Amino acid sequence: MVLDCDPGHDDAMALLLAIADPAVELLAVTTVTGNQTVDKCTVNARRVLSLAGVADVPVARGADRPLVRRLRIADDVHGQTGLDGPRFDTEPSVPESPSAAHDVLVDVLRKHPTPVTIVATGALTNIARLLSAEPSLTTKIAEIVWMGGSTDRGNIAPLAEANAYVDPEAADQVLRSDVPFTMCGLNVTHQALVTDDVLGHLNQIGTPLAGICVEWMTFFASTYRRLWGFEAPPLHDPVAVARVIDPAIVGCVEANVVIETQGEWTAGATVVDLFNYTGRPSNARVAVELDREAFWTKIADAVAALG
Ligand code: BDR
Ligand code: CA
Repeated sequence: MVLDCDPGHDDAMALLLAIADPAVELLAVTTVTGNQTVDKCTVNARRVLSLAGVADVPVARGADRPLVRRLRIADDVHGQTGLDGPRFDTEPSVPESPSAAHDVLVDVLRKHPTPVTIVATGALTNIARLLSAEPSLTTKIAEIVWMGGSTDRGNIAPLAEANAYVDPEAADQVLRSDVPFTMCGLNVTHQALVTDDVLGHLNQIGTPLAGICVEWMTFFASTYRRLWGFEAPPLHDPVAVARVIDPAIVGCVEANVVIETQGEWTAGATVVDLFNYTGRPSNARVAVELDREAFWTKIADAVAALG
């Protein structure tokens, strides 16, 4: 799989899961603007790979703005660096790829002998660009699994989740493609709450990396408490990776999904037709249920395995 992300506290944990779990092979990491500028998100992705001791996976910079809209970053949620919490005195050792995200994605898809799954945990800008520039490569994509959207309400606007809101036109283009698509929205990621219990287990691992994860989660908890009054923060992005690792962890239903791009008050809303009111055919698998125990075991095992 490749992971297209905007680290981001939960993206960082998604990266660790994708790196460590033996069921998947991480072929490349591409970045997109979202939680912070793409410059900062790229440094953060390099940071996570450096902490995990991964030197052979390219980290390539992607879009620095949405397809048509003005950029809106989430520094209120993820802080000035995009990954606030622990402080680091040195630059990450993993370098940035000399190739752009687009070229790395094309290269991986062309060269890999079997179709590749793209997990996207930010706005879908890079993926929309890829699909429109390289239509012949769509058969080389096994599936796009996205953390984004919601069957319920939003988290950045009343009806829009942040990754959908940042670039609704990109999400719309991706959903109109023929590539199999799975949406892991807020309705399921809000089942992945980093409770004290979960934090305690991470702490018990006792490695420097586990300590850093606890600091990240503690920062993330503070913003979720301040902005939304959550007692424990939802760890959104690893849910999409977990779905690829073991589909049984994230239960899905088939449904038609469209993205609102025109609405005066509703841009970025994911309109998920769970009861087929519209009669439109299903174009997505929509995550609805999380096996919490299996999910947190995967996260803890990943952090422990990375030492
Ligand atoms: C999504 O938005 C970002 O802040 C998170 O990293 C996650 O991908 C949740 O709405
Ligand atoms: Ca993200």
